[in-house]
Amino acid sequence: MRNLKHLNKMVSHIAVVAWVALAFSVAALAQDQSAIEAGEQLYDQHCAECHGEKLRSSGVTPDLRTLSANDRARFDAMVKDGKDQMPSWDGILTAENLDQLWAYIRAHAR
Ligand code: HEC
Repeated sequence: MRNLKHLNKMVSHIAVVAWVALAFSVAALAQDQSAIEAGEQLYDQHCAECHGEKLRSSGVTPDLRTLSANDRARFDAMVKDGKDQMPSWDGILTAENLDQLWAYIRAHAR
């Protein structure tokens, strides 16, 4: 009898832990989704004219969908500093904007 009670308690603890973990991952997903949407707006506003509608490059500018997860530092440096035809966005885009753009690009990575 005592063992059974103990088991019952353990099962309910596990259920609570699982529920909390689920709630957190749903919240994290919702946050990702809003960053992706904000990034899409920034992209349409600032980047699409050169890098292509919906990240589809015409071939003249780099296709940002081919950046890999390891290219975040290169992305940050390029967007901040610019290079040749690529404008510098320093003082225009915030660190949060870069996170949002990156979230949008990564969500469409190839
Ligand atoms: C006026 C046109 C233009 C606009 C606007 C523009 N880019 Fe670029 N971008 C370029 C060109 C051209 C290059 C290639 C530069 C080079 O390597 O000489 C480039 C390169 C890049 C690269 C480097 C890609 C790689 O593979 O190394 C990144 C990242 C990038 N752009 C992101 C952005 C983002 C994000 C925006 C919007 C905030 C943006 N660009 C707006 C023209 C533009």
